[in-house]
Amino acid sequence: MDHLFLGSVAHCESRDYLETFENGFVAIEKGKIIGIGDRSALPPDYLNSLPVTTLSPSQFLLPGFVDCHIHAPQYPNIGLGLDLPLLKWLDTYTFPLESAYSNTDFAKQVYEAVVRRTINCGTTMASYFATNHKDSSLILAYEATKQGQRAFVGKVCSNNASPDYYIEKTADSLRDTETFINDVLNLNNPLVRPIITPRFALSCTSELLNGLSDLAAKYGLNIQSHISENCGEIEAVKDIFKKETYTEVYEDTKLMTSKCIMAHGVHLEDEELQLFKKYGTSVAHCPTSNIKLRSGLCDVRRLWNAGIKVGLGTDVSGGHNASMLVAIQDALNVSHCLNIFKKQHIFGSGRIQNPNDNSNKNYEPLEYKHALYLATLGGAHALSLDSVCGNFAVGKDFDALLVDISKAPLDLFDIPASVNEKSIASHGRVDKMVQKFLYAGDDRNIVKVFIAGKQVKNDHSI
Ligand code: GUN
Ligand code: FE
Repeated sequence: MDHLFLGSVAHCESRDYLETFENGFVAIEKGKIIGIGDRSALPPDYLNSLPVTTLSPSQFLLPGFVDCHIHAPQYPNIGLGLDLPLLKWLDTYTFPLESAYSNTDFAKQVYEAVVRRTINCGTTMASYFATNHKDSSLILAYEATKQGQRAFVGKVCSNNASPDYYIEKTADSLRDTETFINDVLNLNNPLVRPIITPRFALSCTSELLNGLSDLAAKYGLNIQSHISENCGEIEAVKDIFKKETYTEVYEDTKLMTSKCIMAHGVHLEDEELQLFKKYGTSVAHCPTSNIKLRSGLCDVRRLWNAGIKVGLGTDVSGGHNASMLVAIQDALNVSHCLNIFKKQHIFGSGRIQNPNDNSNKNYEPLEYKHALYLATLGGAHALSLDSVCGNFAVGKDFDALLVDISKAPLDLFDIPASVNEKSIASHGRVDKMVQKFLYAGDDRNIVKVFIAGKQVKNDHSI
């Protein structure tokens, strides 16, 4: 697609800097960004050579969302079975559902829907877990291809401590993974890649984990798994593998690479953070799921302070919503809760604990621009895709959302200047639109979605 957008634009230049243009432009040639800036800097020939869209005052462009961790097969369970903690939840609700993907007709039905839904919610890149089954995992890769979504797709691997109706033999798991890798690569779709996906240490033997890291090295692939989500899980891993920490299990099996992303990391110890930093391994923060499965509150600031790359994930269906906007809102909620616990020491009873303990006094909760960073450039960085997407830097693919804050559930008002002059009116107009969308918007505010310059959602009501 060749195109020129004129109007408001916002994107994360870095973790702390949200760059905005009220009267801006983004120019696209063959799906890639060739220019961005203030309208005053627009090269005049762009106006003549590119088809133009002028945004309305309630609209702006934002980079597409990067969902760093989502289980596509768990989509039918969204909003169900959130009454149990992780290990019981897996056994009771999740493994039985995932085992149903031996049926490829069912897989096709669900995967078509989940790709459609996530695109409509603004997910331009998703790192998907499928199931143990290679054939239905490939159907997910087809669906992403068909609907134009950028995706990593992983055939899940589990050969240990799993129910007998949903477990693989080591050799089969490795053979099927290699077949799956070649099948996805043969789709010849630059947007869709296979990703090595051991479910988590508890459901894999060292032999399988080693075999999978060899495959990652052989094909130069990214890796995804889970780590330190739940205290019971952590104790079980240390006990079975006889290790001091969870991270050492993945270190010993060569899975800790700079192209590896581990979901959760809620309870990582300081020594483990150093290992993440050393290997350049990332964390997918999944706040919605961490609250719903009562796993814990992950401190993103602590991970950042240790120099770790962090992205954001919905973790459907531990997370009860496929929308990254909900993950953004929950990332802010978790950070605000941590702030309450760390800084104010005030609990629900009204009791003030340790009023003299000032150790966490300087804790600053995340702001909306940080949550946006996690959901866009931070996620792209965490998946080693930041040279391709994540913001509107020249040379990247145009993965974008056209947002309209005049649509439900938001309403716009002209607040009389006399009462508004000292308040939020002083914030920039685009900053305010971004803030409103992130805190209070939903997918109805996302009227168009573009991936690599191709429009994949169009709300014709605009
Ligand atoms: N750990 C292992 N498998 C899963 C899963 O499906 N969801 C979550 N949240 N954690 C896991
Ligand atoms: Fe998960």
